[in-house]
Amino acid sequence: MKTYLRILAYAGPIQRLFLFYFLTTLLAIFFGLVNLSLLIPLLEVLFSQTDVGGALVTIPKPGPSISLAHLKELFSCHFINIIATHGRVSALYFVCTIMIISVLLANLFRYLAEIIAAELRINVIHNLRKELFDKISRLHMGYFTKQHKGDIMAKVMSNVQEVEHAMEYTFKVFFKEPATIIGFFIVLFYISPQLTWLALLSLPIVGGGITTIVRRLLKRAAQSQASLGRLMSILEEAMGGMRTIKSFAVRPYILGKFEQENSTYAKLNFSILLKNSLVPLLSEFLGVLVMTLLLAYGGRMVFLHESTFTASTFITYIIIFSQALVPVKSISKSLSNIQRGLAASKQVFALADIQPAIVNKPDARIIESLQQAISFKEVCFAYDHKPIIKHLNLTIEPGKKIALVGPSGSGKSTITSLLNRLYDVTQGVVQIDSLPLQDYDVQSLRKLIGIITQETTLFHDTVFNNIALGRPEASELAVIEAARIAHAHDFIKALPLGYQTVIGAGGSKLSSGQAQQLGIARTVLSKPSVLVLDEATSALDSASAKLVQEAIDRLMQGKTLFVIAHRLSTIRNADEIFVIDAGEVVEHGTHEVLMQQGGLYKRLSMLYYQED
Ligand SMILES: Nc1ncnc2c1ncn2[C@@H]1O[C@H](COP(=O)(O)OP(=O)(O)O)[C@@H](O)[C@H]1O
Ligand SMILES: [Mg+2]
Repeated sequence: MKTYLRILAYAGPIQRLFLFYFLTTLLAIFFGLVNLSLLIPLLEVLFSQTDVGGALVTIPKPGPSISLAHLKELFSCHFINIIATHGRVSALYFVCTIMIISVLLANLFRYLAEIIAAELRINVIHNLRKELFDKISRLHMGYFTKQHKGDIMAKVMSNVQEVEHAMEYTFKVFFKEPATIIGFFIVLFYISPQLTWLALLSLPIVGGGITTIVRRLLKRAAQSQASLGRLMSILEEAMGGMRTIKSFAVRPYILGKFEQENSTYAKLNFSILLKNSLVPLLSEFLGVLVMTLLLAYGGRMVFLHESTFTASTFITYIIIFSQALVPVKSISKSLSNIQRGLAASKQVFALADIQPAIVNKPDARIIESLQQAISFKEVCFAYDHKPIIKHLNLTIEPGKKIALVGPSGSGKSTITSLLNRLYDVTQGVVQIDSLPLQDYDVQSLRKLIGIITQETTLFHDTVFNNIALGRPEASELAVIEAARIAHAHDFIKALPLGYQTVIGAGGSKLSSGQAQQLGIARTVLSKPSVLVLDEATSALDSASAKLVQEAIDRLMQGKTLFVIAHRLSTIRNADEIFVIDAGEVVEHGTHEVLMQQGGLYKRLSMLYYQED
């Protein structure tokens, strides 16, 4: 129930819509019943059972009042009067006309009710997906390294879809169908209490039989959802790694992996289908069973003149009863879909409920510039309890340049991730202007610090928007100026549509050097005061590395710099160099001092020299 209310809360302000839904549904049921009840006079007039006293007798109209009984009285009075004055054919036409009107009305209201229910559902799904994506984008980086992307995708897409499905049935099960059943049974009781008691006793047989199957479906449903998540993960991984798969000729490996999960999924779905298809068969059989019972019992009453109703009333009774079984069947069947949806929504909410590890404090400060210093004090950090950074101490003042040097995997990139709070330190503190990073607004902190890594992620959008990323207010002039500084203007001009050329996933491709230059232009435009260069040129061939390096040199001017590089030229003139090994600072000082010490730095720089 709590889950339900939570789902409904996503529909937004809905009281008014709900009211409309209830009203239209009730009206639809009412007119549907009127329509069925009209069968009695119709059959009677056809089989000439209405006794009008053999003569042209008219009955006085009953006085005004509003009740179901009164409505019926009014109708039969009118009906008999028509037979008396205009004959049976006219009475037949009269009944037919009213039938058409009530069918029209019943369907009109049903349509309205369905539209309203659909609007509610679509609102829920829309808001749910919106919140989920918002939430996912806030989660800390660690979450994405641990979770399969395909699994997250399955939750946002297919689980949410199941929730929508469940809602559709919920409306039916908790309001429409019970109301319909009650409506039908009121009429049935009205016609014959005796028969209806018998019918009521038999209903649990129909409902119960179906519910048993449905229960068994549920376990399989949860398994099937999990399997779909895994399937999507494999697919996602394969798409991302297609180059590796092809060049290592490991297609059979990934095919096998996919096929294994795919067949698990298929088997699960088949087992669900088997049980699901049993539902209509069983309900059909049980329904007919109960109906035959009533036919035999009621028919006997008619024959033996034990009843108060005529044959045509009895036929109508049976018809109405058969119609009343439809919502009963629908309820028991819908319950399975609802349970599926609830299972799905539990997973969706579990995702929505994950607390982002990195959030703003309520009184977080906006930081606009670096005034005194950035310092790491006794910083320790571990990914999943595996210590990576150990007791790191370093300080950098505005406008200075420090370099981080060390073997691959020593923890250099991790240090920069701590600086812009992609992760929080496990121990110690990172301070800017004597305040811990946690005191600052995360967005403003990340704007303060520009990071250029080995690779620039381009989005499927125009060159212009890729440079002006997240800054729709950026002027054309500013973007072009940034591109010029990044040495990117010339190649952009040469693209088919210039700055309006669509690039990135699915768009036209750029070389990795060009992508880096766009990344630099992007950083130029965002004007960070602190710049982190994490091996920005190391993935490039020497010709493009030279171009990119020139662009970086321009970008660096006047900034506080963290440089991770293996090119000696970039490191040499740093104000202080920190040599990191296995997460620890093993040496620090200027280039000259470190060369004299003849330690790890000297050995590494000999290597770099050879590369340069
Ligand atoms: N998201 C992560 N989860 C777990 N371990 C990680 C993650 N990122 C990096 N590591 C590990 O942390 C260590 C340092 O990585 P990194 O900072 O990228 O090194 P560097 O940049 O110096 O090459 C490596 O051993 C790496 O395997
Ligand atoms: Mg690195």
